[in-house]
Amino acid sequence: ADAMLAATPPMGWNSWNAHSCTVTEKDIRAAADALVETGLRDAGYEYVVVDDCWMADETDDAGRLVADAEDFPSGMAALAEYVHERGLKFGIYSSAGSHTCQGYPATLGLERLHAEQFADWGVDYLKYDNCGDHRGRDAVDRYGAMGEALGAVDRDIVYSICEWGQSNPWEWGRNVGGHCWRVTDDAVAKWQTHEGEFGLGIADIVDRVAALDIAAAQGPGGYNDPDMLQVGNGPDSAQSQHEPTDIERRLSAVENRTHFAFWCLLGAPLFVGTDLTAASPDLLDLLTNEYLLAIDQDPLGMQGTPDRRDPTCEVWSKRLSDGAAVALWNRGEERTEIRTHVDETSVPTAGRRYAVLDCWTGEGWETLGELSATVESREAAVFRVTPA
Ligand code: GLA
Repeated sequence: ADAMLAATPPMGWNSWNAHSCTVTEKDIRAAADALVETGLRDAGYEYVVVDDCWMADETDDAGRLVADAEDFPSGMAALAEYVHERGLKFGIYSSAGSHTCQGYPATLGLERLHAEQFADWGVDYLKYDNCGDHRGRDAVDRYGAMGEALGAVDRDIVYSICEWGQSNPWEWGRNVGGHCWRVTDDAVAKWQTHEGEFGLGIADIVDRVAALDIAAAQGPGGYNDPDMLQVGNGPDSAQSQHEPTDIERRLSAVENRTHFAFWCLLGAPLFVGTDLTAASPDLLDLLTNEYLLAIDQDPLGMQGTPDRRDPTCEVWSKRLSDGAAVALWNRGEERTEIRTHVDETSVPTAGRRYAVLDCWTGEGWETLGELSATVESREAAVFRVTPA
């Protein structure tokens, strides 16, 4: 695979967190239009990805995937064209098994055929899931077959490996042509999940990424993927209006901010998963925060790592091409002051003066290395630190 296809972490919008299995071509067109109108496209969100449930119950006689006639009556080539006409790129979904996670036909054993279909349709991005019967084949074999098929077609297609971290995809994802690889179970729009609940909350995912200790696997062209954004799927979002009883379990404004800041600090792929036709101005401001996006898209492509983890205070940092990003995160339930020194983070200081930029306010100042902030419960102060 061409690493330069994803020289920085891919950004876009994906249908799953907003529409799950009810997605239609109208939703995809509306999302493409909204990316343009809200300015998100111009901020870098490039790929519009249709997740599971776009296909009919049966393939054609040759085994080709067929778009569902009711929900995608215009077909996938026309949909790709609609997306391309708006200066965006088009992504699609299948699985490295007999079926998708929602039980639709998938790709195992038909990699060449489907890769050619996708290329013919104008697909630029493939999210490749891990559901269905694996027919006794291991992950490297199954994901390798699709990587090879994508490499053989005459079109650049970003390859997103959605293997949930089960067989350590950070060890082989790049070698099979992948540009990113999921490292955990699905992220849900909650701060934390409890035993027996589906998926992982936002704080759970950060804990999991810290425990995996896989920052070294990440670099330009290949990224650890902590799953798509649940940002916006909070109390005032369109999504929660469909499920009013769920409101108190969804993400608050502070949780949305910390979620987005951490995905940027991790240098993660950024796929918005909320209904952008109903997004609030605050939400759009968050998703287009230029300082956070610059941290995510830094050319070194590094993953942020923890420097200190206490029950209430955490300090994380990410090495950047010109310094570092530093986050002071309050894990506790009370407002607290968090202090650190640049020397404790992943940026070498040698006693020099540093310029500090507050990524929430845009304010800047100089320091000899001391960083501190008063941080609300669950909030993260985020700074960009560069030699003065
Ligand atoms: C799995 C994936 C999700 C989503 C669904 C679709 O759970 O991890 O991201 O694609 O399948 O069914």
